Amino acid sequence: MTKKSELISEGKAKSLYTTSNTNELRMVYRDDTSAFDGKKKEALLGKGEVNNRFNAFIMNYLEERGVETHFIRDLSETESIVKKLDMLPVECVVRNIATGSLCRRLGVEQGIKFDEPLFEFFLKNDDLGDPLINDNHITAFGWGTEDEINFMKQKTKEINVHLSELFDKNNLILVDYKVEYGRYEEKLLLGDEFTPDGCRIWDKTTGESLDKDRFRKDLGDVVESYQIVAHKLGIDI
Ligand code: ATP
Ligand code: TYD
Repeated sequence: MTKKSELISEGKAKSLYTTSNTNELRMVYRDDTSAFDGKKKEALLGKGEVNNRFNAFIMNYLEERGVETHFIRDLSETESIVKKLDMLPVECVVRNIATGSLCRRLGVEQGIKFDEPLFEFFLKNDDLGDPLINDNHITAFGWGTEDEINFMKQKTKEINVHLSELFDKNNLILVDYKVEYGRYEEKLLLGDEFTPDGCRIWDKTTGESLDKDRFRKDLGDVVESYQIVAHKLGIDI
């Protein structure tokens, strides 16, 4: 008898369900959108579908370039099958241009372009507002090992090389982004998602934001902007 698919977690934008394979999960991209650690929320029609398609394209693109990910295949417009990971409770951020929390935190000017991408770790904890942490916090509290820290830094920067080039050749700027990793059979794989919900993308010609900043700043056309990016990248939606 096949086991019933059970909801195992409902995050702010995605839900995870068990599958008949204990090593795999069904990831459902919902239309729910949130910002400011869940304080601002709205359902944006069609966002789940754009993000599921967008993520599938990026994960395949990265796999083809040697980045191992949890993505297995898409299942429907809004669902994908992924490897079940033991997620590290940290968010890895790479920035090519200074903006967002970095400028608020350090009082630095917006728009500074970094010669070397800037890497930051944040603790995944909405109640605490996802605080900035360093390598020492990760090892001291057992959130990850030194090897895992090095792997995450190196992989996240490698992803930046591949995706910055991809966005650049499609007249887009990859400003910054967040990725997450999880353990699977003794190694770390790229998990979660790579979509305009977790990165900043600017139009190279106009400088217009085409990412979640449209939602954060009430600029409108959120899903339409995600679709514009998808079309520029050649994603079939
Ligand atoms: P945030 O928006 O800050 O990422 P969230 O937890 O509310 O927080 P969602 O995207 O709604 O985010 O939920 C997805 C959850 O699933 C996250 O907690 C993420 O760490 C976890 N996750 C992602 N990929 C996997 C995977 N392959 N296996 C197990 N858990 C995963
Ligand atoms: P950051 O500038 O630190 O945050 P804010 O959105 O508060 O200004 O975010 C840098 C990039 O990483 C940005 O593209 C959003 C993404 N990010 C997330 O999607 N989730 C997170 O929890 C964090 C810390 C960053």
